Amino acid sequence: MTERVAPARAIYGVISVPGDKSISHRYAMLASVAEGDSKIYNFSSGADCHSTLECMRALGAAYEFDQEDGRRVLTIHGKGTRGLQPSATTLDAGNSGSTIRMLSGILAAQPFTTEITGDGSLQQRPMRRIIAPLTEMGAHIEATNSEFPPLRIHGAPLRAIDYTPPVASAQVKSCILLAGLYAEGETTVREPIATRDHTEIALRELGANIRIEPRTVRLRGGAHLSGKTLVVPGDLSSVAFFLIAALIVPDSDLIVTNVGLNPTRTALLDVLKSMGANIKLLHVEQLNGELIGNLQIKSSRIRGGTIEGATTAALIDEIPVLTVLGAVSEEGIVVRDAAELRVKETDRIETIAQNLRRMRITVRTTKDSIEVPGRQQYHAAETHSCGDHRIAMAFSIAALAADDACLIGEAEAASVSFPEFYETLRRIAK
Ligand code: S3P
Repeated sequence: MTERVAPARAIYGVISVPGDKSISHRYAMLASVAEGDSKIYNFSSGADCHSTLECMRALGAAYEFDQEDGRRVLTIHGKGTRGLQPSATTLDAGNSGSTIRMLSGILAAQPFTTEITGDGSLQQRPMRRIIAPLTEMGAHIEATNSEFPPLRIHGAPLRAIDYTPPVASAQVKSCILLAGLYAEGETTVREPIATRDHTEIALRELGANIRIEPRTVRLRGGAHLSGKTLVVPGDLSSVAFFLIAALIVPDSDLIVTNVGLNPTRTALLDVLKSMGANIKLLHVEQLNGELIGNLQIKSSRIRGGTIEGATTAALIDEIPVLTVLGAVSEEGIVVRDAAELRVKETDRIETIAQNLRRMRITVRTTKDSIEVPGRQQYHAAETHSCGDHRIAMAFSIAALAADDACLIGEAEAASVSFPEFYETLRRIAK
């Protein structure tokens, strides 16, 4: 499906966004291996999290959605840590790296073998990063060229490890912690660079025996988890698109309600504020161990600057839309230490650069960096998502600042994380 997005004069209104994708995956997996039912409000509407639910259902944990006072509520019928059953078919993680990597941690501990795969993009994403620690814990995993899905996971009794992942990855950390839930002894994950800590928080909320310290997590295996009522905050990585739209389109004033503000996810807000963005936090509170609040964003002159090191890792999902901002900032935006971008849903350094060039924007790339000089004008063009949700949404935002309407090819990719993206955009773009 090709979407047409016209230039906007203002971004205006009050919106909410779907539940956080990262947190939804974790609640779906953990509620499935908890004892009893969990009720989950504001579960992500994205296809990725649906893939996780379907995988858990295939392993025996049933779920259903109901309406409650006009709100969609998900009930997951937990099977207990030892209650999953072998799946009759190969599990399908779709486009979702989080599903395959995190769920592999649980599968590695089961007394049965599971095959799990995904779409064409997922079959090209690196898995050695989880295969290595899970093998060290005692599982046996077969993969194409020892790296790519489909994975055939032969579960086994696991032993705890003390592990320092070589890449900054919350998915790898989470995979090891989920395996650690089943392991004999205390599993420790040490992170040279801090990554999102939703797994640790969710494990603690559901009753795991866990100690969370800055950049070190320790989890004792064998605990039982208890199902409970959970509320998923709105996804800041989805808000990012409208946030940057409101910054770059003149006369904008946007309020976004119930946004997840976990400090391991808010690097984007800190970076933008340091570049001159007018962003205010309103009504921040804590729910299930996660911070949640409202944001107000107004059009701002953005200086631009360099993003590198731990900051790059902390806002890795927001880089596509940050580079879009770079072109209309005063000094441009440089992103360094971004090799991980090459192994996301697409090679994002490449797909960002291709689309910027289609809009006649100057951009320079290296193997792990991208540099977009400032004070440039977006020109109307036909861009393409390449099947990557964040590329579809980032270039829809670029279109708002273009000199005429743009077309975005394969725009339906947005529904991987944000099926309501275009509907919401049409409501606030004036
Ligand atoms: C995620 C972690 C990040 C991120 C992905 C979601 C998670 O991946 O890019 O969209 O939910 O843990 P890595 O941990 O591989 O960097």
